[in-house]
Amino acid sequence: MSPTTAAPALEESEAALEARLDQARLPRHLAVIMDGNGRWARQRHLPRVAGHKAGVAAVRRTAETCARLGIPVLTLYAFSVENWKRPRTEVDFLMRLLREFLRRELPTLRKNRIRLGVIGRVQELPASVQRSLHEVCEATAGYDRMLLNLALNYGSRAELADAMQALAEENGRPGKPARITEQDIERHLYTAGLPDPDLVIRTSGEMRLSNFLLWQAAYAELWVTPVLWPDFQTRELLRALCDYQSRHRRFGGLAAPDSAI
Ligand code: FPP
Repeated sequence: MSPTTAAPALEESEAALEARLDQARLPRHLAVIMDGNGRWARQRHLPRVAGHKAGVAAVRRTAETCARLGIPVLTLYAFSVENWKRPRTEVDFLMRLLREFLRRELPTLRKNRIRLGVIGRVQELPASVQRSLHEVCEATAGYDRMLLNLALNYGSRAELADAMQALAEENGRPGKPARITEQDIERHLYTAGLPDPDLVIRTSGEMRLSNFLLWQAAYAELWVTPVLWPDFQTRELLRALCDYQSRHRRFGGLAAPDSAI
């Protein structure tokens, strides 16, 4: 008798994954570290920028799916304060891509009633990018189906430094400084008023937060996939959401059955 070989596990279909989702327990805020564009391009013997270009389609797919599912806030890490260290040509390309994205996607944002927001030191971005961002943020300000938040020239440490600066200016009267609370700090974060991310997804397999929402992600669930960002499909997003819903979040407390002991 010939040895039996195990049949390869069938990948769950998109529809099956979506059917498993509990609409009432979706993350209120999903944050994504879109990594692996460069590796995606290198695998294809293409210049790095081709990976960024291919990454735009994954941005569109992810935003549309989140809006359709009813996730209220989606934050995408699109350009970090550290990314200025990249070659000038790559930085320029990313800025052009961003402008083009904003111009092209405005009708889709309108159609899906998605509001655009930005977090980061926007004032240090090229003037043309600032103008495009301003225009699209204004044009979509009235939409309430989902907030698509782009982290641009963003770094968590810079954000905290900016918050401390703002607090110091607020408290800058002579005498004993007022006691600073967590709420005071949160009021001055770029994300003021938004729920903390419930789930952080990182593509391309690296197990780190890379200076992304360090304060806000204190109790976020982390989900890392080896898939490179341009290959990140709706099915992968749904797998992350199903996995998120299978987790028990205790926020430092105890799971319900143990809480009476
Ligand atoms: C990280 O991959 C990705 C970036 C620094 C840029 C992300 C930009 C996009 C997905 C496209 C444009 C986005 C918008 C919102 C229009 P990497 O280059 O570090 O990849 P690697 O680690 O494989 O080199």
